[in-house]
Amino acid sequence: MVADIGTGDGRAALARARTEPGSLVLGVDAATTAMAEASGRAARRGPANAIFLAAGAETLADTPLAGQMDLVTVAFPWGSLLRGVLGLDACALAGIAALPARGGRIEVLASVMPADRIEGISSLDASWEPVICDAWATAGIDLVSMRRATSGEVAASRSSWARRLGAAGGARSVWRLELCRP
Ligand SMILES: C[S@@+](CC[C@H](N)C(=O)[O-])C[C@H]1O[C@@H](n2cnc3c(N)ncnc32)[C@H](O)[C@@H]1O
Repeated sequence: MVADIGTGDGRAALARARTEPGSLVLGVDAATTAMAEASGRAARRGPANAIFLAAGAETLADTPLAGQMDLVTVAFPWGSLLRGVLGLDACALAGIAALPARGGRIEVLASVMPADRIEGISSLDASWEPVICDAWATAGIDLVSMRRATSGEVAASRSSWARRLGAAGGARSVWRLELCRP
């Protein structure tokens, strides 16, 4: 079972569901407008293994989804979701951290530049690794690696937001976090 948190228009969740018919893919977003079209399309034409949930990451820890995911993806988050994956919002982080089963992984693609004007961080770079590692450790999650994402990894994410930002073409510095629940 795979969860894409902050799924936006659900494009990545639908693509994964098509290419991994044996997986149940759950797209989750706090905002429903963009997600509604993907949800309606999946209901009408499939894939039947894609489902969508309107919920904030902060609310997920106390649901039956906790401890069920083999993989959790978060691509180009903003707001509290971005602050959560960077260890700056404990509630959002706790909601994501609760989802993986034992041995389950979390993959994050994130980019922060000064022009984004994100509170508490002007630019994401390698100096953030200890902060991020410590924050996830408090929720029982290990940071396996933090490095620059390749353009191939950004393109493979099928993120609509990455396309909008021109991130696959190197217009932004994108970081890839890989985490796991031991
Ligand atoms: C920049 S968009 C990225 C959408 C998609 N992942 C992509 O790559 O195209 C960020 C998304 O995160 C969602 N989001 C922000 N904070 C959230 C939270 N606390 N819980 C769930 N979704 C959140 C927003 O509603 C938005 O759809």
